[in-house]
Amino acid sequence: MLYDTSVYPPSFTYKLLTSTITPRPIAWVSTQGASGQRNAAPYSFFNMMGDNPPIVCVGLMRDPVKGFKDSCRNILDTGEFVVNLVPYALARQMNATCINAPAEVDEIDLAGLQTEPSVKIAPPRIAGAPVSLECSLHSAVATSPHQTLAIGRVEAIHIADDCLLDAERGHVDNAKLDLIARLHGSGWYQRGGERFEMVRPRWEDR
Ligand SMILES: Cc1cc2nc3c(=O)[nH]c(=O)nc-3n(C[C@H](O)[C@H](O)[C@H](O)COP(=O)(O)O)c2cc1C
Repeated sequence: MLYDTSVYPPSFTYKLLTSTITPRPIAWVSTQGASGQRNAAPYSFFNMMGDNPPIVCVGLMRDPVKGFKDSCRNILDTGEFVVNLVPYALARQMNATCINAPAEVDEIDLAGLQTEPSVKIAPPRIAGAPVSLECSLHSAVATSPHQTLAIGRVEAIHIADDCLLDAERGHVDNAKLDLIARLHGSGWYQRGGERFEMVRPRWEDR
């Protein structure tokens, strides 16, 4: 089957892409509004995009009712956001924060979460997240009136001590992070899964 995206509505294309580009890591984004109002919401259109400088990217779709989602508004207004990664232990709380609450509602409180202060930016980190990336907005790209890419420069990386095998060498116990990922449909996620290793080929070794 061949799908020409120009003849299908965005909702159909969304279904095809989100059912196939899996598993997707989840950026649990904590922000503050210009007046200090806290916000948190999950975003799975997310990944690392570079290391020099360290860059992450989050895809923020426009809300049909309120326009910019609160996370997007806050990122554009303040130029700061935290990407917290989601462990299985906080899956339900993460899901609670995706509620379409009015801008003035603090989803961090709503989900019964605690926070830890960030060191380089104002928005707090979500306590219990094994990894939090403090980001400053490198640039924002509106790919259409319906969607914005927030490109973040990672200013600081917090990793829970018990998830580090060797802090000096930067060796992380990836399995211990127990991160969940987004799959297809309106509510499917992945935890764990089978792992396998492959050695990268080098032309010099042929
Ligand atoms: C696991 C998960 C991943 C999501 N990923 C995205 C995404 O990548 N982009 C997006 O615009 N919305 C995404 N959403 C929906 C937002 O979280 C939702 O619209 C939320 O209400 C936005 O909150 P905010 O207005 O406080 O930023 C996702 C929801 C869930 C549960």
